[in-house]
Amino acid sequence: MKDSTKLIRIQTERTQHKEHATPMFLTSSFTFEDAAEGQALFNNEIAGNIYSRYSNPTVQEFIDKVCMLERCEMGFATSSGMSAVFAGFAAHLKAGDHLLASSALFGSAHQIIAQILTKWGITYTYVDACAKESVWEKAILPNTKMIYLETPSNPGLEIVDLAMAGRLAKKYNLVYFVDNCFATPLIQKPVEFGADLIVHSATKFMDGQGRILGGIICGTPERMEPVIFFCRHTGPAMSAFNAWLLTKSMETLPLRMEKHCSNAAKLAEALDGFPGILKVNYPFLKSHPQYELAKKQMTSGGALVTFELAGGFDRIVRFTKLLTIPSKTSNLGDSRTTITNPNTTTHSKVDQELKNKLGITPGLMRVSVGLEDIEDLIEDFKQAILGSGN
Ligand SMILES: Cc1ncc(COP(=O)(O)O)c(C=O)c1O
Repeated sequence: MKDSTKLIRIQTERTQHKEHATPMFLTSSFTFEDAAEGQALFNNEIAGNIYSRYSNPTVQEFIDKVCMLERCEMGFATSSGMSAVFAGFAAHLKAGDHLLASSALFGSAHQIIAQILTKWGITYTYVDACAKESVWEKAILPNTKMIYLETPSNPGLEIVDLAMAGRLAKKYNLVYFVDNCFATPLIQKPVEFGADLIVHSATKFMDGQGRILGGIICGTPERMEPVIFFCRHTGPAMSAFNAWLLTKSMETLPLRMEKHCSNAAKLAEALDGFPGILKVNYPFLKSHPQYELAKKQMTSGGALVTFELAGGFDRIVRFTKLLTIPSKTSNLGDSRTTITNPNTTTHSKVDQELKNKLGITPGLMRVSVGLEDIEDLIEDFKQAILGSGN
């Protein structure tokens, strides 16, 4: 069976009521036949659900779908993308360890690495997402335990060479951890490049309708077992209600991504070279500095487009006032087109020097291209750009 069929047909075993749609197991705990069964479950002598902080059938259905797409054997679904990112770090890093990370990361990942992990004696080095293999390799220290990256990155859409990171992870026995949120597993499969752990903000394209928060981390049994231990005992579990919405949304992920990506490619082309636009970033635009690499590891350019508007933040304010269709909000991965100014929102807390390096300028806008008619969208962007002047 193809992935798109499996996404629709993977389902929790039917109950005695023979329901067609997936049921929602909104329950904190599960019952035992008798004390002996309780003991056997707690001793891992038999498989089964005990308590929803550990596992839940509705949550498991969502995990099974993502693991199938990511070609991973084990997963754990969490309350948000950031709790999944944190679980990956917390399960594998300890005082005295060193983390090697791409500098092009989502704002909260920077906060965890620079403000939280350092409190516990975990040091880090940032390397430019597009740096050569020799630069990445030089940054590996004797105590480096993990390599962490996001590709394409939020918001700059920089591409990290997944095969290169895989070679280094193997050579130095590092935990290879990838945030695959922007690409989704339909566009890029980090496991094919040797990744051990993959994380998603399910809040984004997996939900796809801007309703709920969720996250998931999946990977090899060896790397996932410590993560599952950490999550079961610290409690970032996803709620059954959110999993129930997500598992239904996963049925339409392939259809939605196809339209998101074709709309994004058309918007990027329409904005490229348009008066007032200094630069457009889109992985599958020939002008993207890593176009060849993007083509190698992604099957499409994705649904995010960023561009730099001439005139800085004052013009951005005028532009966003004139824009009528996109929602001005910091979320992404919605059926509705969303737009934000990363410098003042998602990345506002990131160190200014790092923001300059990453090209997060006052005039940069990040667009998550939705499912609206693309001609309507292009027309709206053009009128707002022209109307906002210089
Ligand atoms: C690339 C990336 N990773 C992780 C996250 C965090 O996800 P959540 O907001 O679900 O915690 C985000 C959120 O914007 C993101 O863009």
